[in-house]
Amino acid sequence: MEQARTFFVTGGAGFIGSCFVRLVLAEMPAARVVNFDALTYAGNLDNLEGVEEARHRFVRGDVCDPEAVLSSLDGGTDFLVNFAAESHVDRSIHSAAEFVRTNVLGTQVLLDAARAREVGRFVQVSTDEVMGSLPERDDAFFDEESPFAPNSPYAASKAAAEHLARAAHHTHQMDVVTTRCGNNYGPRQFPEKFLPLLLANARGDEPVPVYGDGRNVRDWIYVEDHCRAVLAAALKGKAGEAYNVGARNARQNIEVAESVLDLLGKPRGLLKFVKDRPGHDRRYAIDPAKAERELGWRPRESWESGLRKTIRWYEENGEWVERARSGAYRDYYRKQYGE
Ligand SMILES: NC(=O)c1ccc[n+]([C@@H]2O[C@H](COP(=O)([O-])OP(=O)(O)OC[C@H]3O[C@@H](n4cnc5c(N)ncnc54)[C@H](O)[C@@H]3O)[C@@H](O)[C@H]2O)c1
Repeated sequence: MEQARTFFVTGGAGFIGSCFVRLVLAEMPAARVVNFDALTYAGNLDNLEGVEEARHRFVRGDVCDPEAVLSSLDGGTDFLVNFAAESHVDRSIHSAAEFVRTNVLGTQVLLDAARAREVGRFVQVSTDEVMGSLPERDDAFFDEESPFAPNSPYAASKAAAEHLARAAHHTHQMDVVTTRCGNNYGPRQFPEKFLPLLLANARGDEPVPVYGDGRNVRDWIYVEDHCRAVLAAALKGKAGEAYNVGARNARQNIEVAESVLDLLGKPRGLLKFVKDRPGHDRRYAIDPAKAERELGWRPRESWESGLRKTIRWYEENGEWVERARSGAYRDYYRKQYGE
């Protein structure tokens, strides 16, 4: 019989965290999840609609608040998986303070709490962006030995968080595992991000904005494949190790936009080049060989199948999009839980 594992997931009302919560509950019938999320602009309880209530407990709380974290973290929890973050690079360019608070301070609060409660393993969900930008050559990839060179305040705050997690392993012998992933796409991504924005605009025959010359390269992965890798790292990873997670799917932004327009049957004339983001990294591409070898993980979706699933989900969930765009999901929270 499967062991009854307990998870404390932070940021589980967000895009990736909510997918992870669903995955754990679906794949591990005896698992229980405490989902700890502050419900910032990006946290959306609509993302948890239909999640089994008996094995899932939602707690609204801030990862920077040690008392709130400690009071919901049970002693002997098997896994603390840290997704909670300020995650939008563009927002970090306008104002970095919240990124430092949540991503850096919040991670340390969680590490301290995990140590105090003797959590079995701490999983830090990180990003390929900590490694900066690669040269524009098809044979350059990030591997686990690539040096850190974060270029945006977002990436710098995630790099700092990784360093703190690494230090907790080295200094306190905590069991820490880190995953570093590229650009996720899939259901329930906040509408201001590149792919949902592209889909929404293309469907409405509105111009599709692409930064600069559109030649920036990102490595795209279907969100559930990322979550499967995080779960594999939790269950099979080696303490103190980092795993790069990618689907060998590096593409120029313009190619991504064209794929979406083609699948929707929309003209490429909708593409509109806009002023580039300051300091925009040119190329990310991930070598996932270590995760494939050591975690036995492989992505299940191809670019085409993942994109089709994503498009279908957004087509069938127009109400989710409208509510997310208008912030209406907050009314639900107010009704359900009060201020
Ligand atoms: N989106 C990507 O492509 C991508 C790629 C690699 C890694 N990541 C990492 O994965 C994680 C999740 O990303 P996402 O895209 O789902 O982000 P998201 O912005 O959709 O969700 C973040 C969640 O964290 C919660 N949160 C924010 N501040 C909090 C706080 N102080 N206390 C408690 N909860 C808080 C929000 O309410 C939200 O539910 C992040 O750590 C991000 O750095 C994301």
